[in-house]
Amino acid sequence: MHVFITGATSGIGQQLTLDYLKAGHHVIACGRSPAKLEALSQAASGAPLTCLTFDITDTAATFRACHHLPHTPDLWILNAGDCEYLEDGYMDVTTFRRIIEINVMGLAHCIEGCQHHFKAGQHVAIVGSIASELALPRAEAYGASKACIGYYARSVSLALERRGIKVSTIYPGFVSTPLTHKNTFAMPMQVSVATASHKIQRGLARGQRHIYFPWLFTTLIRLLGALPYTWQTYLVRKWLMPATVDS
Ligand SMILES: NC(=O)c1ccc[n+]([C@@H]2O[C@H](COP(=O)([O-])OP(=O)(O)OC[C@H]3O[C@@H](n4cnc5c(N)ncnc54)[C@H](OP(=O)(O)O)[C@@H]3O)[C@@H](O)[C@H]2O)c1
Repeated sequence: MHVFITGATSGIGQQLTLDYLKAGHHVIACGRSPAKLEALSQAASGAPLTCLTFDITDTAATFRACHHLPHTPDLWILNAGDCEYLEDGYMDVTTFRRIIEINVMGLAHCIEGCQHHFKAGQHVAIVGSIASELALPRAEAYGASKACIGYYARSVSLALERRGIKVSTIYPGFVSTPLTHKNTFAMPMQVSVATASHKIQRGLARGQRHIYFPWLFTTLIRLLGALPYTWQTYLVRKWLMPATVDS
């Protein structure tokens, strides 16, 4: 199988790349850092790996890189993304725009750049986040970007699946990667990157349209997310937000 992976130079994408290579598949690994892609090639030690360098926020560079691929992928894993939090409800347009540009526009650029390769029998996997299911404090940018991706994936699957292309959306809870290492808050039920890769590969191999892990954490978030918004807000405030002291 030929697998196309964005965000292959770190965390979940890197682990998926190494695991698919180990299982004998050919991987087209995408990243924005030539040095990190070189390190990935070294780690692959001769396994069938092709590296593409582009920044997914650069429309022209993404289209150029995706136009001619060495092989037509059977599986596309659109995983590249970033997370930053806003401070205490204050809008910071620079951060907001950066996260939307990477997570939302970056995904849209990759889909448009690759769509002329899409054909029946292929599988497109989009990495969202369980954060999309419940409005959390300081996640105005990240949560909104992932909610947008969740909607986009469900919407695009309506058209692609009619053409015989399967679409899966992946909703991870906390995974130990450089993205979460910078967090200073508690991250319950965090899993290793190896577990994340295993759950994603297994879900994709089974053809699951929605892949949630770890099961208990994502189920709790989904249950909370199914409550009326007033109850969600009340519970998130009560459990996650320290009481403010009025002066
Ligand atoms: N870790 C978690 O707990 C968690 C939970 C839910 C969802 N997710 C999602 O899972 C995906 C992977 O996250 P991760 O935890 O593995 O993060 P990570 O270790 O920071 O890796 C992110 C990857 O995306 C690439 N990337 C970021 N911005 C890019 C850009 N503008 N152009 C091209 N590539 C870019 C990074 O490239 P560089 O190496 O050059 O930085 C890196 O390869 C993200 O979409 C994230 O939102 C993660």
